[in-house]
Amino acid sequence: MDQATFSFSIKPLSSHTGAEIRGIDLSRPVDEATRAALNQAFVDHTVLAIRDQKLSAPEFLQAMQVFGEIFPQHNSRFQVPECPAIHYISNQDKLEDGKVYIPGEGYHTDHSNDREPPKATALHAVKLPNTGGDTQFVNMYEAYDALPEQTKKKIDGLQARHVYQSKHSERKLPKLSEERKAIASESVLHPLVRTHPRSGRKALYINPIRIEELIGMDDAEAIPLLDQLLEHATQIKFQYRHKWQAGDVVIWDNRCLMHKANGDYPVGEVRYLYRLMLKGGRPA
Ligand code: SIN
Repeated sequence: MDQATFSFSIKPLSSHTGAEIRGIDLSRPVDEATRAALNQAFVDHTVLAIRDQKLSAPEFLQAMQVFGEIFPQHNSRFQVPECPAIHYISNQDKLEDGKVYIPGEGYHTDHSNDREPPKATALHAVKLPNTGGDTQFVNMYEAYDALPEQTKKKIDGLQARHVYQSKHSERKLPKLSEERKAIASESVLHPLVRTHPRSGRKALYINPIRIEELIGMDDAEAIPLLDQLLEHATQIKFQYRHKWQAGDVVIWDNRCLMHKANGDYPVGEVRYLYRLMLKGGRPA
């Protein structure tokens, strides 16, 4: 198939986060100029909502490689059978205790327990509830910039230990499959403030489900500090709330955002999306 040049439109979705892209068909290969323009829009807007797509799982896998290389998933449980590199988000799964499992409830950034966490996550809406099920994002550049200078001084240079599931986390994650169990006992250090490799901007890098400790600080001081940073970062003024439309492909930058899902729709309504992540570098 010939590569296509698209002259797509970009419309910001809030004053700081998110842009809507129209006029592109991701089932077709894109040329170099389009690829570069899309990647620049991704860095500039941190969330792209690419409207009106109808992609099979393999097409979605192919299309997202415009933005980078596929990150291998930590847990094989949610693989899409016809295309295992793609996972699904579904409200039809249950936790071990029989409770409905809504993946991603509670603000977080993906897989920060990895040495090189995924730079981006992308979802493609396959089936949506009639109401609710928005994805919320908070912009961690804006949150960092708005911190008092004294707090910036205190946290710049601090390192956090990230694990699969922090003992401080209120949200419980599903058990890891046998072949991935080793991940549960591994940990990695990342800076609490990271610099984005493309934009050069500083962003807060916190993750309430994964941070186990701050290096060189007692829990008695570290946990209230992390709680205070979380409360600060999740203010409405730093938020973009994505209302899903049929056909949306949404890709976001994990290096400067946290996100969360909402299970606020009738249990009988199905919400099903394809999901993948893209490889990132070591936070610095
Ligand atoms: C996620 O955390 O990746 C899920 C987001 C969503 O389902 O809205």
